Amino acid sequence: MHLRHHRPGQLVAWAPAKINLFLEVLGERNDGYHELETLLVAVNLYDTLVFKEEPSGVLEFRCDDAALPQGPTNLVVRSAHLIREETGNQRRGVSIWLRKRIPARAGLGGGSSDAATTLAALNALWQLGLSAGDLAELAAQIGSDVPFFLHAPVAVGRGRGELLTPVTLTRPLHLVLVCPEEGVGTADVFRRYEPAGERRPLQPLLDALGRGDSDEIARSLFNRLEPTACRICPAITVALAALRASGLAGAAMTGSGSAAFGVARDRSQAVRAARMLRAQFPGRVHVVRSSPSWYAA
Ligand code: C5P
Repeated sequence: MHLRHHRPGQLVAWAPAKINLFLEVLGERNDGYHELETLLVAVNLYDTLVFKEEPSGVLEFRCDDAALPQGPTNLVVRSAHLIREETGNQRRGVSIWLRKRIPARAGLGGGSSDAATTLAALNALWQLGLSAGDLAELAAQIGSDVPFFLHAPVAVGRGRGELLTPVTLTRPLHLVLVCPEEGVGTADVFRRYEPAGERRPLQPLLDALGRGDSDEIARSLFNRLEPTACRICPAITVALAALRASGLAGAAMTGSGSAAFGVARDRSQAVRAARMLRAQFPGRVHVVRSSPSWYAA
């Protein structure tokens, strides 16, 4: 994420979305989670958060999206409580304003990114002095995808998704996102998931990314959760078919859905495809790119 000191006691932060170019499920674990191998890329679709220190000690949260929980189940609120408790700073106060742009229940990691941003922002605002490792531990307590957003703009995630290895892109990726109106719950998809098929290797995608060959990248996209999520939410199948028909080299679902994306050769191809797709999915198509230059690696 990107943090900026606005004025003393105030921080503005941009929390990016992520796309999973690859997601293989390796098996079920004893703790109820699934062992994953995934490739995550941060993209330039952002939520904005404003943090303002509150000397009174209150913890206030407001959001422009009334559909999101605003109470203690919200990941921003949970992150603020967790960092206060873990550092013994229960009397530090903050008001947090969240401007939501990343669709929820879309597999874009919006809630996780907001949570990671909250941990990093409060560490800075309250000058708590937590290390990157301390923050990553707190992040993993909030959710499997949260540590990624503290980490690098592109990474392989293993374990629950929280064990990260950075990946360097040789050139930026241009993607087109289609976000169906209906969202999907991650827990629901994993509950209904049934193992099928041979393990898909990640290496071809890593090789394609190393060569910066967008056609090869597009051919190497994979998401093991796609069939399960499409059964729950048929709009994903429609979005995938539309992306493929728009001239993009390949398309896949991100995370546990419901958003789908396609890989373009360059920005102008992405813009052309998006123009076609907007007729079918008005207000639900985004042209994005990987690794915004100012994203802290
Ligand atoms: O970690 P997080 O709370 O975001 O995960 C939401 C739900 O998704 C978990 O409760 C679990 O059911 C499922 N999940 C999983 N394996 C993972 C990540 C999530 O089964 N690696």
